[in-house]
Amino acid sequence: MELRFHLRNIISCMTLIAAFMVSVAGPAPYLDESLSAEERIEDAISRMTLEEKIAMIHAQSKFSTPGCPRLGIPEIWMSDGPHGVRMEFTWDDWAHAGWTNDSCTAMPALTCLAATFNPGLARRYGAVVGEEARFRKKDIMLGPGVNIYRTPLSGRNFEYMGEDPLLAARMVVPYIKGLQANGVAACLKHFALNNQEHDRDKVNVVVGERALNELYLPAFKAGVVEGGVWAVMGSYNKFRDTYCTHNDTLVNKILKDQWGFDGVFVTDWGSAHDTREAALNGLDIEMGSWTNGLTWGKSNAYDNYYMAQPLLAMIRRGELDESVVDDKVRRILRLCLRTNMNRNRPWGTMHTPGHIAVAREVGREGIVLLKNEKGFLPVKSGKKIAVIGENAVKTLSIGGGSSELKPRIEISPLEGLRARFGDENISFSLGYASGDPNYSCELPSAYDADSLRLAAIETARMADMVLFVGGLNKNYRQDCEGDDRLTYSLPFGQDSLIADLLEVNPNLAVIIVSGNAVDMPWEEKVPAIVQSWYLGSMGGVALADILSGDFSPSGKLPFSIPRRLEDCAAHSFGERGYPGVDSQVYYDEGLLVGYRWHDTKKIPARYPFGHGLSYTTFRYSGLEADRKQYAPGDTLTVTLTVTNTGGCRGAETVQLYASQKNPRLARPAKELKGFRKTDLQPGESKEITIRIPVSDLAYYDDTMQRWVVDDDEFTIQAGSSSTDLRAKTRFRVDSNLAAR
Ligand code: GLC
Repeated sequence: MELRFHLRNIISCMTLIAAFMVSVAGPAPYLDESLSAEERIEDAISRMTLEEKIAMIHAQSKFSTPGCPRLGIPEIWMSDGPHGVRMEFTWDDWAHAGWTNDSCTAMPALTCLAATFNPGLARRYGAVVGEEARFRKKDIMLGPGVNIYRTPLSGRNFEYMGEDPLLAARMVVPYIKGLQANGVAACLKHFALNNQEHDRDKVNVVVGERALNELYLPAFKAGVVEGGVWAVMGSYNKFRDTYCTHNDTLVNKILKDQWGFDGVFVTDWGSAHDTREAALNGLDIEMGSWTNGLTWGKSNAYDNYYMAQPLLAMIRRGELDESVVDDKVRRILRLCLRTNMNRNRPWGTMHTPGHIAVAREVGREGIVLLKNEKGFLPVKSGKKIAVIGENAVKTLSIGGGSSELKPRIEISPLEGLRARFGDENISFSLGYASGDPNYSCELPSAYDADSLRLAAIETARMADMVLFVGGLNKNYRQDCEGDDRLTYSLPFGQDSLIADLLEVNPNLAVIIVSGNAVDMPWEEKVPAIVQSWYLGSMGGVALADILSGDFSPSGKLPFSIPRRLEDCAAHSFGERGYPGVDSQVYYDEGLLVGYRWHDTKKIPARYPFGHGLSYTTFRYSGLEADRKQYAPGDTLTVTLTVTNTGGCRGAETVQLYASQKNPRLARPAKELKGFRKTDLQPGESKEITIRIPVSDLAYYDDTMQRWVVDDDEFTIQAGSSSTDLRAKTRFRVDSNLAAR
């Protein structure tokens, strides 16, 4: 009794002394905000046991890692997806948690954002996602995605930013900055070469050094070097027969050494496959092992993860040094100091009028008017309008895989059109029906297709004009991760339905809602075609803004729409080009993806990259570069005047394409090197200035493993699309000149 009494006194005295020392000495260095981040990180690492470090580098639940409870280092919570904050999940499987406070503002898909060609809007988009993620207490948002659009069949193109690396780079940097300003990490994905969903977790991409460096990496590099992204996600596929998630060339050499990435490299869910490779090839956090990241997840105790007990055992056996784990923990702690240990980060907001306004603006600015014969659009007031098609009413923010959202509101095209034109002027018929978004599109619809078709024909017959709202949807094997479309055609019998409707009413506009190009056998017969997107919460309002003429369309295609699938580069080399043979896919087209292929091979697209009409017209004049010759270290200043020569306000995106006269290595006919969007009142002229560093004219010389600008003559063409080229200017690059 006596001894226990004294022991208790000793312990309480020691506790008092410790508390006193802390109060005098101040917080432990890792918590001392007066110290540098690096000092705090090193102090924290010095205090952690090996077991605590191992715990930090892999999941504790479907979307979180444990932090270090003993040291008060918080858990890290992650959420999808690029278009808004995904709903909550249960701890350890793909079941929605069923909370009632986890809806969000569903933003338009990233293809729509890319189609705006408006970097300022991209920053505001990122800010909306960051503010809502912060409010939902997320530390990492799993997006944006910037994989290049190589085939119109890929199930995830709607989550990415099109076929051109410069467009993707210029749009992703402000998105990242807008998001991370909220103390939430963006997570650039999927690094790298995730250009198809079919066979995604096995396929080995065989691609040349030039295409890798000139096409597939630039948007990632911009996100890291210019955007300062705090996290990057590995892709499921392989490169040079090694999983990209733990690939020495991609992760250690390019991402971390060459680009200086100081953030966290995280798996895709289930994309880790080997302990030693994961430990040595740059993986920092392992998530979702033994799941397909989409629907199924084998509940495999987190201690069995590749970077859990197996890694601990290897270190204990002396097969790997503990410093390998230290670097991972260092990066994770750096992310914590930027996010959940950053006392100065904003508080976040949810579903504000501002968020709603940005969602509407992005949708409005991204909608692309492909065809508009005789001013068929905008819809003249007083017309009796038949709205036909499932995408006029279908909720399209759900489904599609990990980018699914639970929108607080989602205004459908039908609702938006009714609100704008009046119920009395709008009739509706479903026309066709697909299956449940979470199952195969082959699932027979619950409706009798023929009755739907006949009803739609009658509705069309009775109206002055028809707005057919169709396209793809988020069903499996449509615009959905996990696999690709099986055909280039519209699904669910839409083509024949459009033909039937045209029979009874030729005054028909087709509005395609999709994240991919589709075949258009009816193109010649319809007076107007609109490429719309998954527009999220304000979709119907944004569409009505454009179809009513309240706003003029200003979107430009972020990808080419080929006439036939076989006109597309990826589909010109047989199965080896897509989807691959024996899980090997060969990018034989090299640099010639999208308009680069169509231009260089002289295979005209049905609608080219960068195409998009307005309700007004524009004239270009006075294109010139500030000099006739440049040193390699110079920057071109290109100016030209754009005039609105039509009868209504409109915004035009001027695109600048560069061509080299005699390149030492083969190059595409032309490449996008700058763009600028400008808003003009009728009759108004504006001079726009676009600067292009001469270094941006370089190509990657795979024989010398470096970027090269030849001494040569170059041409800059200004276009309203990649084929509607309206002015050009020439200049020389001469390495003997002194840089100015
Ligand atoms: C999925 C997706 C990835 C997503 C992750 C978590 O497999 O490929 O983009 O962030 O799993 O849902």
